[in-house]
This record gives sequence, structure tokens and C-alpha cells, in this order.
Amino acid sequence: MYALGKKLRMSVFGKSHAPCVGCVLEGVPQGTEIDTEAMIQELALRKPSKGIGTDRVEKDLPHIVTGVCNGKADGNPIIIEIMNGDVDDSKYLPFMETPRPGHADLPALLELPKFDITGGGQFSGRLTAPIVAAGSIARKLLEEKGIRIGAFCRSIGPVKDVSDRTLEDAVASRKFPTRACDGKLDRKYDECIMAARADKDSVGGVVECIITGVPIGFGGIWFESLDAELAHAMFGIPACKGVEFGKGFAITEMRGSQSNDAYRFDDGRIVTRTNNMGGIVGGMADGADIVFRVAFKPTPSIGAKQDTVNLKTCQDAELEIKGRHDPCIAPRAVSVVEAVAALVLADQMERGL
Ligand SMILES: Cc1cc2nc3c(=O)[nH]c(=O)nc-3n(C[C@H](O)[C@H](O)[C@H](O)COP(=O)(O)O)c2cc1C
Repeated sequence: MYALGKKLRMSVFGKSHAPCVGCVLEGVPQGTEIDTEAMIQELALRKPSKGIGTDRVEKDLPHIVTGVCNGKADGNPIIIEIMNGDVDDSKYLPFMETPRPGHADLPALLELPKFDITGGGQFSGRLTAPIVAAGSIARKLLEEKGIRIGAFCRSIGPVKDVSDRTLEDAVASRKFPTRACDGKLDRKYDECIMAARADKDSVGGVVECIITGVPIGFGGIWFESLDAELAHAMFGIPACKGVEFGKGFAITEMRGSQSNDAYRFDDGRIVTRTNNMGGIVGGMADGADIVFRVAFKPTPSIGAKQDTVNLKTCQDAELEIKGRHDPCIAPRAVSVVEAVAALVLADQMERGL
């Protein structure tokens, strides 16, 4: 339920307003260097940026409880805790009676008898902090094999990045709060998010992920295929509403003669001329960069008045949300997508697929 992976296996625990959130990461080979500084840097990229993110301020300092000795994995499960500090339960209590449309409140209240609604409970984006921490360890395992991962915001609301992008562009997006690939787009994305915020509303966005250095044949087949496991894991990230590889749904408008990525030899290496498949065929890497996009919906908690129901009076009701929320999830989700991709690939690598 809360776990991802089979051999490199991460499970998350905690809730948004519990004392902490955290994860248990099993299967990290003994002796793997654990770079706490890199982990802190990755966590900083997930933090909300002023204006375009929630006003909740968390230090996000990971505490490695066990599993690491002298900076190296000791072969036992690694437990990472991240404390919650800036919590305010009061703003969430009304949702017990008037659930937020678009959030998990209604099904959770009806289905989970002990559901603690404060902060969105276990459905909060807060649980993505330990995922990013675990992802930084997975990333290290992949980098040792020459596999690199980078993501960026391909669009925010109606504002689209229409340029061809590389891993280097994705890495450059780390400089920009909206995770755009350049300063001009960063300003446009920022304006779009701030306009929604001013209207007490929210916007969605698309995160694109590029993975380089994956050898031809890497990945499982059928239900263990690389694209199947990546998509499955991406849909586990709160607010994900779609995943597409390569040309994605647009591939249906092409003919096979256009969509097939033709092979050629380049200095003795097999390469593809195009990358419509997103670097995966038959569930396995075809040597091209792996490229996929993840759609994040507009943040459900908005200040504008919405229709809902009152579960106590069984009457129709209205709701105006007062708490602190991200007006757009996508910029913060970029580092989560990178982390989840790293965990999936590192797990497939450890499984020898
Ligand atoms: C990084 C991140 C931050 C999020 N911040 C918020 C937020 O501030 N307010 C909110 O209502 N939802 C936020 N969400 C989304 C909710 O957690 C999510 O919509 C909710 O759990 C329902 O799940 P679903 O959207 O996958 O159906 C965030 C998600 C992520 C990944």
C-alpha cells in the first residue's frame, strides 16, 4: 500500500501533521555511499518557493535513524525521518463535515474509520519529502552506472514550453523556482501561477522527465516492463492525472512509417534517428533517452467558494478553504518525479532486469 519496489523497496510512513514523515528503504547494497548533503539539496528543490508555493515553512532536514554507518549503507534497512514543525490543524477540521472537492477527504472519511483529516493526513503531498530523500540514494546507485535523471516543467496551465529539451536543460531548471528551463519561461509560469493565486484559485502543469545512459535491453517485460513500472509509480504521486511516453497520445495521429524510430549505426553504436517511443520498446530501453511526461492537476484546495455537501446535516453546502496551499503543484512535483523515476530504475537494476 505504502511501498514501492521489489528489491530496492521503499515504504513511506507518517502524516502531514503527525510528528514526522519518513521512509524505510530496504535493499541498498552494503557499502553504498550515502551523501546526506546531496539528500538535503534534493529536499530543498521540493520546498515551496515564495509566492508560487504554500506559506508552510518546513526545515526538511533528514534524520537517518539507522542503516548507515560512517557515511555508508550497512546493508540493513535505512530509516529516514523528517520532522513536521509548521502545522495548523484548525483549518482542516471543517473538512470533516464539508469535504474538499478534488481532495481525498470524502472517500477517506467514508472508507477509513480512523482517518485523521488534519493536513490531509496520509494523502498529503508532505509524504513526498521522504520519497525525495530515498530517491537521492537511488540516484547515486544509478549514477555509478552512468544513468542520469532530470526533470522540468513542460507546461503550467496554458503556458507551454515548445522547445526541444535535453537532460542539461532539465538540470538547468534547478535554478528557477517554477522549474522552467529558462528565465523567460520562468517569468511566464510565475505570472500564470500568481494570477491563479490572486483569484483564490490554482493551476495544473506537466512535468517532463529525461533519463540518459540507460543501456539497450534494460528493463523487464510485460507487467515488469520499464514503462509499466514507471507509470504505476508515477500514478502513486498525489495529484498525478496522466503519464505519457515519447510522443504519447499524439502518436495515434501518426502513421507507422512516421512513428517508428529508425535505427542507424553511429561510430559502431546503434542509435535511433527520432525518439517517438520515449526510449522504451517491448518494456526495455532502446538506447535513446527515456522521455516521459506526468500531468499534475490543479491543486484541489482553493480559496474560491465551491459547492460541496455537509455530511452531518446531509444538505448541500458551500466551502471556502482558508488554509495554506500550493497554488500549483507541478514545480514542487519535479523533484518528486525525478526521485520516483530513480527508485523504479534502481529497483529494476538491482533485480537484474
Ligand atoms: C508536492 C505536492 C504538494 C501538494 N500540495 C497540495 C496542497 O497544498 N493542497 C492540496 O490540496 N493538495 C496538494 N497536493 C495534492 C494532494 O495531495 C492530492 O490532490 C490529494 O491527495 C488527492 O489525491 P489525488 O489528487 O491523487 O486524487 C500536493 C501534491 C504534491 C505531490
